[in-house]
Amino acid sequence: MKLINDLKWRYATKQFDNTQKIPEEELKQLMEVVRLAPSSYGLQLYKVIIVEDPEIREKLKAASWNQNQITDSTALVVFCNFKDINDNHIDDYIKLKSETELIDINKLKGYGDFMKSKLKEMSQADKDNWTKRQTYIALGFLLTACAELKIDACPMEGFEVEKYNEILGLTDQNLSASVIAAIGYRDESDKIQYLPKVRKPIDELFEIVGECKLQFVA
Ligand SMILES: Cc1cc2nc3c(=O)[nH]c(=O)nc-3n(C[C@H](O)[C@H](O)[C@H](O)COP(=O)(O)O)c2cc1C
Repeated sequence: MKLINDLKWRYATKQFDNTQKIPEEELKQLMEVVRLAPSSYGLQLYKVIIVEDPEIREKLKAASWNQNQITDSTALVVFCNFKDINDNHIDDYIKLKSETELIDINKLKGYGDFMKSKLKEMSQADKDNWTKRQTYIALGFLLTACAELKIDACPMEGFEVEKYNEILGLTDQNLSASVIAAIGYRDESDKIQYLPKVRKPIDELFEIVGECKLQFVA
């Protein structure tokens, strides 16, 4: 499976070669992959901001434990989850579904009401947690797509959410930074790329419930 080789090739890049740019066509492909990522009910309660501007990235670096990847990569992808989730978000989705699947919107009312009732059961903290989790699926898709395109990436949680929200003006947009990824090209001086992958063996990571004839290979 080619994907396994791609995933062995990728690593959380620490040193980027800041002279290289991602071709526009490939950046568009990455955006399309993120767009196609699944989300709970398909609501996509997040927005993805791609920061190229060097000055803004310099400010973000100071809010990211001064990690070099923020400024040395080609771009910084900031996954942001919606904060206030309300019935309008459901109505927007139902409208989009009706237009896309050519279904009479009235036939989707029950489904919309169901989602609204589920939202009402959630506290603000639940909603925040829930929408944040969705962004990690999109992040996973981005990392996988990067590996296929031989674009390097570093997923990162080491940043100050409030400062990101302030620098990028996210709060006014009902958004909050959730997780980020620096993308670009590895520098050959980055020693980590030459190390083997540190992963638990399959038989420790998985437990099969039921009959399974799999033979674990160490
Ligand atoms: C959600 C998440 C947050 C991470 N945060 C950081 C980070 O802030 N800085 C960093 O250098 N690496 C970060 N990493 C990279 C991990 O340390 C790395 O993925 C892990 O050690 C596995 O190594 P590999 O990705 O090179 O295979 C993060 C990874 C994930 C998935």
